[in-house]
Amino acid sequence: MKAYVIKQPGDYRSLELNTVPDPTAKMGQVRIAIRAFGLNRAEAVTRIGGSGKAVKFPRIIGIECAGEVIDCPGEELKAGQVVCAAMGEMGRAYDGSYAEQTVVPVTNVFPLETQLDWTTLASIPETYFTAWGCCFHALKLEKFDQPKIIVRPGASALAIGITQIVNHLGGKVIGVTRSKHKVSKMLSIGMHKALVSSGEVAKEVLKEWPDGADGVVDTIVSKTSLKDDFNLRSKKAYLCLAGSLTDSYGTDKAGSFAKALIKPRVGFYDSGTISVKKDGEKIQEIINRVEKGIYKPHIDSVFEFKDLPKAHKLMDENAFTGKVVIKLP
Ligand SMILES: NC(=O)c1ccc[n+]([C@@H]2O[C@H](COP(=O)([O-])OP(=O)(O)OC[C@H]3O[C@@H](n4cnc5c(N)ncnc54)[C@H](OP(=O)(O)O)[C@@H]3O)[C@@H](O)[C@H]2O)c1
Repeated sequence: MKAYVIKQPGDYRSLELNTVPDPTAKMGQVRIAIRAFGLNRAEAVTRIGGSGKAVKFPRIIGIECAGEVIDCPGEELKAGQVVCAAMGEMGRAYDGSYAEQTVVPVTNVFPLETQLDWTTLASIPETYFTAWGCCFHALKLEKFDQPKIIVRPGASALAIGITQIVNHLGGKVIGVTRSKHKVSKMLSIGMHKALVSSGEVAKEVLKEWPDGADGVVDTIVSKTSLKDDFNLRSKKAYLCLAGSLTDSYGTDKAGSFAKALIKPRVGFYDSGTISVKKDGEKIQEIINRVEKGIYKPHIDSVFEFKDLPKAHKLMDENAFTGKVVIKLP
């Protein structure tokens, strides 16, 4: 099969399209024919070596995909079943989705009932699992009437997923971006406001919402962003830390993440915890809502498999506003 194998971490050119043997599934695993997969910021971090010892090279990276079951030795799933797979150390501890086929533990292969096309389906799993987790586990949005939420960065695929969920609850999202040209796109996908800033926005937020925001999702987690998060949230608001864009993934040298977590009403969400047992019904519900038009995944761009390195180059340049999907032939 064709697969992008990274031999040494580096820039987008380290993604080399190779021919490798088809993978084989053992008991407890599922072999999937990949039809499409979404790109994630975490993969760009892994590509440059930012995942440290957690990812050894050579490696086929890619933490999610949508496709069909080829075989499943334990017979938990039937051949031809439509599935998505995500996380469970996919594309990190073992080869992932930047390939025509992948093998994933059955714990992280989600069988789905859906009529969605492959591109739309592939845009959902990692982004919406995380958006749902940030909204309901960390921010406890079910406790708020018409919640007012801040997301930074606001132009990310994750921020747009969060916006869909918050808008469905009757709430509003203000997104923060460093890129003025992304504002009109952010508003068109349903954000209440888009603030252009690489630092503090508390003054502007408090002008709009004098009591402060009911929840904040911060995936930058710098000293500046955290100080601002505390200044702009209301007394009853939760702050969800869900990433770290200022440093390598998972290594926060300034310790900002850990220091913030001990403060009241601060939590985190990590999609690394998802499994079929715990989250299988949730992803089906999310997909049902997409099919009904309640959630509208925003796909910025779709690339052919052969153009994956180009998509990574553009991701490094922060060119996108929303999800990027790679389609297999
Ligand atoms: N906790 C979890 O389970 C989980 C799961 C998924 C994603 N995440 C995290 O969520 C974040 C977004 O992920 P994604 O895949 O949705 O990203 P994405 O669509 O690639 O968007 C990332 C955006 O972040 C902004 N950005 C990049 N570097 C930045 C920096 N150093 N400081 C400030 N802004 C920066 C850029 O927007 P502008 O140019 O507009 O500023 C960029 O377009 C990442 O931190 C990721 O690790 C966490």
